[in-house]
Parts: sequence; structure tokens; C-alpha cells
Amino acid sequence: MSSKIGHVFSGIRPTGHSHLGNYLGAIKNYVALQDEYECVYCIVDLHALTTVEDTLDLRQNTYEMALDLLAAGIRPEETILFVQSHVPQVTELHTILSMVTPIGKLTDLPTFKEKARQQPHNVNYGLVGYPVLMAADIVLYKTDIVPVGVDQAAHIEFTREVVRSFNYRYNTNVLIEPQMKNTEVPKVLGIDGKEKMSKSLDNHIEIAAMPEETRQRVMMMVTDPQRVKRSDPGNPDVCNVFSLHMILTPAEDAAMINVECRRAGIGCVDCKKLFAGNLNKALEPFRARRADLAQNPTAVWDVLHNGSRRARTIAEQTMVEVREAVGLP
Ligand code: TRP
Repeated sequence: MSSKIGHVFSGIRPTGHSHLGNYLGAIKNYVALQDEYECVYCIVDLHALTTVEDTLDLRQNTYEMALDLLAAGIRPEETILFVQSHVPQVTELHTILSMVTPIGKLTDLPTFKEKARQQPHNVNYGLVGYPVLMAADIVLYKTDIVPVGVDQAAHIEFTREVVRSFNYRYNTNVLIEPQMKNTEVPKVLGIDGKEKMSKSLDNHIEIAAMPEETRQRVMMMVTDPQRVKRSDPGNPDVCNVFSLHMILTPAEDAAMINVECRRAGIGCVDCKKLFAGNLNKALEPFRARRADLAQNPTAVWDVLHNGSRRARTIAEQTMVEVREAVGLP
């Protein structure tokens, strides 16, 4: 018997190369949770289809995401790492859950409205059903805890409501209401210092890049906008470089910058150079492991196929209970 204290599930979209925001906001946390929980992590390729029309890169992006997760420290001997579309039970559960989902609840969600605004030419049915598929992901694995960022809070709340509706309508308790576990990292801003870091805004810093590329991206970072000249004192409290120093840089460096920036003792260029160096150093073991894994793509796919097999076993057990509860013949 395992000594772990509960079941964690999370899904991550195959966006290609992960950036610092993905790493600090999600991946690092996924890795840490393995110590205490039975974890199931899913690369959600079906969810990706709601926004991605050109799927040429989908396979490669799924693979790259697996590399990132494994290199970051996901341990596939204990944790289940798999690809969403490899477990078709999720689409069956999605259909069943859709029957206890009022459509207005879906179209009212801010996440749906936002996507509809972003892609007015492609407001597809899948986009409306996105939270239902996400709920199916979560409940299929009898999940207790879902580690996600605040942007997903409404989806988790939706999942809880769907579970209650399902259990009520079919007079059962086979589905479990999950709890959200908010990742404790402050929002990671992009190099523009304004928006949340994201690939689509091209304000991101890739974690698997070459050190020189990372350095160039860091040098582009916007700092305290009030600090125009080198001789102006800066304010680390409003500087995005400093907020990342606080997360990634050894404490003594960060403390030094906090003092020196305020009295113009260190300039933004030197501060960024220091950060780039520290960031590259911090990412070095990850990058080495990633390069190592990339030597053998077949082994990486094997990990995913193995994970999918294990996931299907759990999913099918849940579906047997669900079909029974619903009264499907
Ligand atoms: N919607 C999540 C996101 O955009 C991804 C996701 C899909 C997910 N299914 C999930 C997250 C299940 C947690 C649990 O990041």
C-alpha cells in the first residue's frame, strides 16, 4: 500500500516549448506534489484542438511537453504521465456529464467569452464544452486535488457543480468533488513587464533554450519604467526582473540588488546580466536531462504509452461505475 495522502490530477496543454511561467507556475509544483500524492498528469491534446486549427505540430508539441515534464523531475515509475486522447473513456464521460450541464453555465464562463473574443471565426462546440471535458478529465481519476493557476478556478468550481448534479440526478456517489490547490507562485509576467508570460504574446522566456538565447531574452526585459537613466535610483518593488530575482536568484544576490538598485549602485543592464547568469545556472540540470532524454524519443513515447495504459485501467473502472449509476444497459 502506498503511504500517499490523496490523488492529484492536472492537465497541461501541449503548447510546444514551455516557458518560465509554465515552469514556475505549474511544472515545478507538479514535481513537488509527487512526494505526497499519487499523481496523474495529462497532456491535453484534445483540449488543444479547441484553439489549434493547424495540427501539424500537435504530435511534436506533445512530445516536447513530455520531455519538459520528465526533465523537470516527473517520475514515471510512480506518477502516471499520459496523453489525453489515448484514453477515449474521457470523451464518453464528457458526453454523459454534458447531460447534467446547463448550457447557459458554459456560455456564461469568462474563459469561454474570452476565447470567443479571441477567435470569433472559430467559436466551436468544443470550446463551449471545454470545461465539461476538463471535468471529465478530473473525475475519471477519482481526483481529490487539482493543482492549477487562478485562471482555472472557475473551471474547478464548474467541475464541483457537475459532480454534485451528476451524483444527485443519478442518486449515487461515484464521482468525487475535487478541491483546487492554487499554485503558490506569484503571477509570472512576461519580458514586457505588463502581461502574464505567454507564448502567444511572445513575451516569454523558454526554459529549454540555449543559454545565449535566454540571455538575449532577459536583456530585453522591461524594468522599472521610472528609471530612465543609469544614475536614477530604481524601485525593485515594481521591477519584473527583481521579482524573478526573488524567485530564482540566491538570496544574497537578491538582497544586494534590493539595496543597490534603490541607490543606483547597480544598473539595469548589470542586474539583468546577473539574472541571466543565475537563470541559466538554475536551468542547467533541467537542460542537461532534457538533452539526454531527447537522445531517445522512442523511450519517451514508451513512457507516455505506458502511462496511458495505466490511465485507461483506472478510467475504465470509473466508467463501469458511471454506466451502472446512469443505468446504461
Ligand atoms: N484548462 C487547463 C489549462 O488551460 C488544462 C486542463 C485540461 C486541465 N484539463 C485539465 C487542468 C484538468 C487541470 C485539470 O491550463
